[in-house]
Amino acid sequence: MKGRLLLSATILVIFLLTVIAGGCAPGTPVADGTALYNHITKENEYKKWKMWPGKQALYPGTEPHGALLTTYVTDGAFSAIDGKKGSIPNGSIIVKENYMPDKTLAAVTVMYKVKGYDSANNDWFWLKYAPNGAIDAQGKVGDCIACHGKRRDNDFIFTGSLKP
Ligand code: HEC
Repeated sequence: MKGRLLLSATILVIFLLTVIAGGCAPGTPVADGTALYNHITKENEYKKWKMWPGKQALYPGTEPHGALLTTYVTDGAFSAIDGKKGSIPNGSIIVKENYMPDKTLAAVTVMYKVKGYDSANNDWFWLKYAPNGAIDAQGKVGDCIACHGKRRDNDFIFTGSLKP
C-alpha cells in the first residue's frame, strides 16, 4: 500500500515537473547577433509577443528609424514599461520593425538587455538586421549607444518615459 502511494506520488511529481518545464518560455540567447536573430525569429518568435504598451502596429516614427514602426516587447519589458518601473529588467528584448512610408519593411532594430554585458551603458546588446536577416550591426554599436545615450536617464529608451 505504502509502495503504491509512493509510486503514485513520484509519477505525479514527474508529471507536474514536465508540465511546468514545458510551459516555460525558451531560455535567453547569448549576446550574439545570430543567436539573438534565431531566438526571436524561430525559438521564441517576436511576432507573437505583445506590442509596446499603448502602441499599435505601424505607428509614426522619427529619424533615423523609419516612417512607420511596429515594436514588440517580451513580457518582463511589457510589465516594466506599463508599470513605470524606471528601467527594463535583464533578459528583456525589444524588437522594432522599421517601415518605409509605403509600408515595406526596411530594417529591424533590437535591444536586448544582458546582465554584465556592457555595464557602462546599462547592459544593452544592440542589433540591426535587414528584412532578409542579414546583420548590419551588432554588439556595443557606437551609433546606437551615442544617440540612445541621450536617454540614459530613461534606461536608453526613447519610446515613452519609464518613470511615473
Ligand atoms: C540618431 C538617433 C538614433 C540612433 C542612431 C539610433 N536610434 Fe534607436 N531610437 C531613436 C528614437 C528617436 C527612437 C524612438 C522611436 C522613434 O520615434 O523613431 C528609437 C527607438 C528604438 C528602439 C525602441 C526602444 C526605444 O528606445 O524607444 C529600439 C529597439 C532601437 N531604437 C534600436 C536601435 C538600434 C539597434 C540602433 C543602432 C543600430 C539605434 N536604435 C540607433 C533614435 C536613435
